[in-house]
Amino acid sequence: MKLTKEEQEILNGAQGETKAKILKTLVEFGDVFGAEKLVPVTHDGHLVTSFGIGLIKPLFRIMDEIIDAGIKTKYPFTVDPRPIDYKNVKCGLLDKLIFSKIMYSQQKRYEEQLQKIGLKNVNGFTCTCYMDEVGNIPKYGDVLSWAESSAVVYANSVLGARCNRNSGMLDIFGAIIGKVPYFGLLTDEGRKADWIIEVKTTKKPEAQILGSAIGLKVMEDVPYVKGLDKFLGTELTDDAKSYLKDFGAATASNGAVGLYHIENLTPEAKKLGNKLIKQNVKTYVIDDEELERVYKSYPVLWKNKEAKPKLCFIGCPHLSYNQLVNWAENIINGLNETGNKKVKVRTILTTSPDVRNKFEQTELYKKLMKTGAKVSSICPLMYTNNPLAGKKPIITSSNKLRTYSSSKYLKDEEILNVIIGKEAK
Ligand code: F3S
Repeated sequence: MKLTKEEQEILNGAQGETKAKILKTLVEFGDVFGAEKLVPVTHDGHLVTSFGIGLIKPLFRIMDEIIDAGIKTKYPFTVDPRPIDYKNVKCGLLDKLIFSKIMYSQQKRYEEQLQKIGLKNVNGFTCTCYMDEVGNIPKYGDVLSWAESSAVVYANSVLGARCNRNSGMLDIFGAIIGKVPYFGLLTDEGRKADWIIEVKTTKKPEAQILGSAIGLKVMEDVPYVKGLDKFLGTELTDDAKSYLKDFGAATASNGAVGLYHIENLTPEAKKLGNKLIKQNVKTYVIDDEELERVYKSYPVLWKNKEAKPKLCFIGCPHLSYNQLVNWAENIINGLNETGNKKVKVRTILTTSPDVRNKFEQTELYKKLMKTGAKVSSICPLMYTNNPLAGKKPIITSSNKLRTYSSSKYLKDEEILNVIIGKEAK
């Protein structure tokens, strides 16, 4: 990799040993991918590692070294959601013991470390940092050092920013040096589509299943999706953005998509159209049958496949404000319809702290609380990712949570029916 004079000096230790090691890591990472240079990061950071899992000792050691060297990130950063919220996501004594003493024993220490190196504020714990309420919103063309896959794919696709699918720690290192290796999704060529996806469904496809189908098919390639603007429109409204958030998270977790284009809707597709499509691309047609085939292919990992669900998580990635309002209204109206006063399965709606604060000011929030549903800002995956929770029959409307845990995925309507106690037809 060709380095500037300043970069070479940092590498030689002009700004201390710690910075030299951080830059060396970035350079070696870039070399692996054939990057010829580093380019400046132009926007705030977002870190994927939000949990103080005691086992990842090297992380805390490196953070201490960074702090001791007086180093901070170039711009402030937000970070993925916290793993625990005992107030809203109650758990038994044994779970609590495992969470606080074994799994997340270093949570407090790690959050203090994050604050010392540049955490934006205490509300910055969410994977949907790009929501208006949170305010970490990159502009078109911004270069980022992020790693959370659902946020990376959103920033690349819906906002037109540029970011590779980095890993944890590399996001911190890029944010500290203020530079990232130039390759892959940072380049014009790397943003071109390898696949054309033709959506030919008779109704608006479930975002989570469409994203899953595409992710499973294209893996890490870039898809150019045709026919979805028929259902989403040609403007990035709040509803369209919420849909694309969930769609993108499913492409990124069921496959490894870091960027997609939606014809006539996402910014680069609007600007460049067919010029974004490579020659000799592959085509994947998705109709109602194909979506159903993908949905039916999900394995149920519960010990007792017929068990009654004990817990329900909605909001992975975190819900947008309009999604939260929609779910609250649907639950309240649905319970009125079935004549039930309380939700039939313990239900947790997850959203960012800023969206939650806004929602808590509303009458709707008070009504929702009466149903027994809860609003939390945890990461459901971090919660389910332990030996005890892993055994529970958990349902979710998130394809990402389904993929990384033993939770069972249900479509939005199906999950609502379980919550309100409506018998399936
Ligand atoms: Fe967000 Fe955690 Fe899901 S980080 S995308 S809520 S797995």
